[in-house]
Amino acid sequence: IERKQSMKKTLLLACLTLSANFAVAAEPSKDFMWGAASASYQVEGNVNQDNRGKSIWDYYLTDKQLAGLGVTGEVAINFYDRDQYLKDIKLLKSLGINSYRFSIAWPRIIPDGLGPVNMQAVAHYRRFITDLKLAGIKPVVTLYHWDMPLALAQKGGWENRDSIDWFNQYAQVIFENFGDIVQDYVLINEPSVEVAQNIKAKRYLAGDTSDSSLPIIATPATLETSLKSYNHILLAAAKAKESFREGHYKGRLGVALPLSPILTAGDATDQDKADAKIADGVLNRWFLDAIYKGTYPEDVLALAKKMNLKIDVQPTDAKTIHDAGFEFLGINYYAPFYVRHGKGKGYNPETYIPKGQKAAFNGAVRPDQLTALLDRIRTEYGNPTVIITENGAGFPGEDKLVKGMVVDTQRCEYIKDHIKAMNEAMKHGSKVDGYMVWSSHDNLEWLEGYKSRFGMIYVDWNTQKRTPKQSAYVYGHIIKGDKIDT
Ligand code: NOJ
Repeated sequence: IERKQSMKKTLLLACLTLSANFAVAAEPSKDFMWGAASASYQVEGNVNQDNRGKSIWDYYLTDKQLAGLGVTGEVAINFYDRDQYLKDIKLLKSLGINSYRFSIAWPRIIPDGLGPVNMQAVAHYRRFITDLKLAGIKPVVTLYHWDMPLALAQKGGWENRDSIDWFNQYAQVIFENFGDIVQDYVLINEPSVEVAQNIKAKRYLAGDTSDSSLPIIATPATLETSLKSYNHILLAAAKAKESFREGHYKGRLGVALPLSPILTAGDATDQDKADAKIADGVLNRWFLDAIYKGTYPEDVLALAKKMNLKIDVQPTDAKTIHDAGFEFLGINYYAPFYVRHGKGKGYNPETYIPKGQKAAFNGAVRPDQLTALLDRIRTEYGNPTVIITENGAGFPGEDKLVKGMVVDTQRCEYIKDHIKAMNEAMKHGSKVDGYMVWSSHDNLEWLEGYKSRFGMIYVDWNTQKRTPKQSAYVYGHIIKGDKIDT
């Protein structure tokens, strides 16, 4: 045992020494939320437990097997099981995290999407939240992390304007049942990526598996679906926020956006630059302008008009979203997009990774772009309170369990460098209240199945055994404020 421990220590030190002179936790205050994140369908398993209803992801993965035979969320990492999650909470606590972001499954709370509330599921989540709090871990609750009740997806999902009311009804149930024990709510997670995943799933269903990357929204049909859905999703969040205010609940509400700076190469053509500007409009400004300025970007609206798209944006929609007055902005940051013009005339961007650029599963590794993003939010959008609701990485082939250890050097580096980048922006004046690593555990990576591990805790899919990776210890040191420039 001693030999094993000393080996672990040596490896940890090796990991820590990688970036010299890294003073951590320079800016964050003692109330800063140092957390980790996960989402219901990616971790819970136990899909039939407590009368859970079906979600669109059961359809994609169990019924349609889009991620391959046998890849489903039926077991995942068994996080719905209390014996299991109690052990996980203990482990997370021992690493030093003080907050945990997780999502409540809508199809567990309201199995058919609309209709009777399932009090067994309510009891489960109340128990889970209480268990977290007893361990001194603050819950940050996501209401919606992509697992739409199947019944509602079949009615058109977010493309149907009624989805605003469907979500609001669900949100009211959450506030009524959890308002006394939860303060921080992420209403909706990553609208643009969710919509892109749905587009991709539909393509797969139609037999087209040629493009495995998330679409940068370009074709008329995908742009129409996307802009229409984004508008409804933002309106749904705004309406839920209004219900929260009317119900006199106490807490902070926000949405989590996957914000990616859009970059072009040094030798970019005018067409490349024009496409990049619109891509920024669709993926970033569409959301930020509505929330912080009460308008939708002119260039995107003009393009939609030119393409004759029916995006169901009513004249007062953006103002309604702005007037909701979200208390914080959740930022999920992984990577910037490098964009260039694809084929043909008109808006048709494609993403690529430049030669020599280090990349993870989710794109280029550019911590400096997190600083740039936070600087932009501060200077262009009135310096709102920000929570980094997700940041993390997985690197092909890195997460190997060898002799009881996982030495995930690149993830260690990634986390350290991004915290440093966040600190930099805080020194410039950005108001960041928390940082959550995606993810606490390896889990089900949607249409990618179980291949892409993002966790700080390694999970053996066969035995459910957990092994903290080196990154978990490194993150623990950062949280404790240790100087790790040994
Ligand atoms: C963002 C999503 O919110 C999460 O569900 C996903 O697993 C991570 N990105 C990693 O791709």
